Amino acid sequence: MSTTAKPTVKSYQNYINGQWVASSSGETFPVYDPSTEEVIAHVASATAADVDIAVKAARAAFDSGPWAQTTAQDRGRILFKIADKIRQNTAMLAELEARNCGKPIVEAEYDLADVATCFEYYGGLANKVTGHVNPVPANALSFTLREPMGVAAQIIPWNFPLLMAAWKLAPAIAAGCTCVLKPAEQTPLTAMELANWFEEVGLPPGVVNVVNGVGEVTGAALVAHPGVDKVAFTGSAAVGKIIVKSAADTLKRVTLELGGKSPNVFFADADWEAAVDGALFGVFINQGEVCSAGSRVLVEKKIYTKFVEAMTEKAKRIKLGPPLDRDTKMGPLVSKEQYDRVTSYLEIGKKEAKTAIGGGRAKAFAKGYYVEPTIFYDVQNSARIAREEIFGPVASVIPFENEAEAIRISNDTPYGLAAAVWTRDIYKAFRVVKSIRAGIVWVNHMQPTYVEAPWGGYKQSGFGRELGPWGLEEYLETKQVFVNLDETPIGWY
Ligand code: NAI
Ligand code: MG
Repeated sequence: MSTTAKPTVKSYQNYINGQWVASSSGETFPVYDPSTEEVIAHVASATAADVDIAVKAARAAFDSGPWAQTTAQDRGRILFKIADKIRQNTAMLAELEARNCGKPIVEAEYDLADVATCFEYYGGLANKVTGHVNPVPANALSFTLREPMGVAAQIIPWNFPLLMAAWKLAPAIAAGCTCVLKPAEQTPLTAMELANWFEEVGLPPGVVNVVNGVGEVTGAALVAHPGVDKVAFTGSAAVGKIIVKSAADTLKRVTLELGGKSPNVFFADADWEAAVDGALFGVFINQGEVCSAGSRVLVEKKIYTKFVEAMTEKAKRIKLGPPLDRDTKMGPLVSKEQYDRVTSYLEIGKKEAKTAIGGGRAKAFAKGYYVEPTIFYDVQNSARIAREEIFGPVASVIPFENEAEAIRISNDTPYGLAAAVWTRDIYKAFRVVKSIRAGIVWVNHMQPTYVEAPWGGYKQSGFGRELGPWGLEEYLETKQVFVNLDETPIGWY
């Protein structure tokens, strides 16, 4: 077990207009360590009135504050300073992240490296935004200006808390937007630590605000607020649909990164060891609480039985344990709610398919939301465990006869976030790549994610793209400027 001393229970307020402020209702909500089920912090609940103050602060900072006068270079420097703070404080942040969301500390450290890299990437990109000169006819000049979209409401989930904050904040700051960030109510702590540095790195008051609270109150108030220009959301498809409807009232720009039921497709000619590893990694990393989880494992019939056996044997060796133990490979799920959701799917799965391993609570732990890595096989693609996002360590293994059937099953889903295909045959690999309707397709790997490359989904996995230059585009408007070079009057009337 972990030998780290019990931390003190901290209290956090909301960060609005450069100040730490209590909730206008005086209310707070508890934040838990999912491995002990104990309260580790109390956080002020932002009411609709608090959200209104935050949006107005962001509005003022955008419309009339010094932010509009900052150069792209200045904004880039601020982003580099944020990255430096993260690198200097990685140990503290990774421990807090692991403790709050249950992920293994080693994975939290990888996340923190990605957080810093994301801020650095957009720090570098900030002053590379350029317009175009448009080839209009003679006697005129037409060009485009790229301008920040305005006030961005950014609502993020609990599976990669600070990384999702970085994916939202970094491009928005680079673009010159102002932000109101709402972390997930389960995991607000690292974002609050980040906010501690905003003033020091040079963000003027109101440029980045952080409000906390449950989605139905704080998040909904933010999305509905007429002072918001753009909503960026990562979370469930159900909430994504609510957000689109609410944002429609003032026609806010919306980007959505929702869930998936991503196929991880294994052909008989795949490299065996890599494939078995990749099937497990694809669905069990971060306890399976990953939007791009390879939760549908499609296996060619020729190798199907052996493959399920090999996955099962290897899955037995996955070490569950407290998040802060360095040899832990799988921690608890993030919350009681998620534990209940995932275990209810385990009951459904046991009826719908055969169980190779797992299927319930990890019994070695008296406390904590630990779930056994679970492999269901002989799963029909029409089964609920093959159609609905479970967001836990649950693999649904589905056999297929040939390439055409693999493609058909892969695409037979309302989602389209990601997919992977494993084969040594490059002809087949690229045919499958082109046939799968998903925003990310990996070949002979699953999950590697780089800030330089776009991230986002087809179909009900959302719209818009994060990361890379695509992520910055989502925070920019395009202004066309036309300059008449001909002094003669129009002469129409
Ligand atoms: P959720 O979609 O309810 O929560 C995500 C964020 O949205 C949180 O910050 C939450 O406070 C906020 N939110 C919730 N309702 C809102 C509303 N009406 N208006 C504005 N904001 C709102 O996700 P939840 O309940 O935590 O998890 C449920 C399922 O969602 C998971 O089992 C998983 O399938 C999926 N999910 C997908 C994620 C992804 O990365 N695509 C991340 C988290 C959850
Ligand atoms: Mg929810």
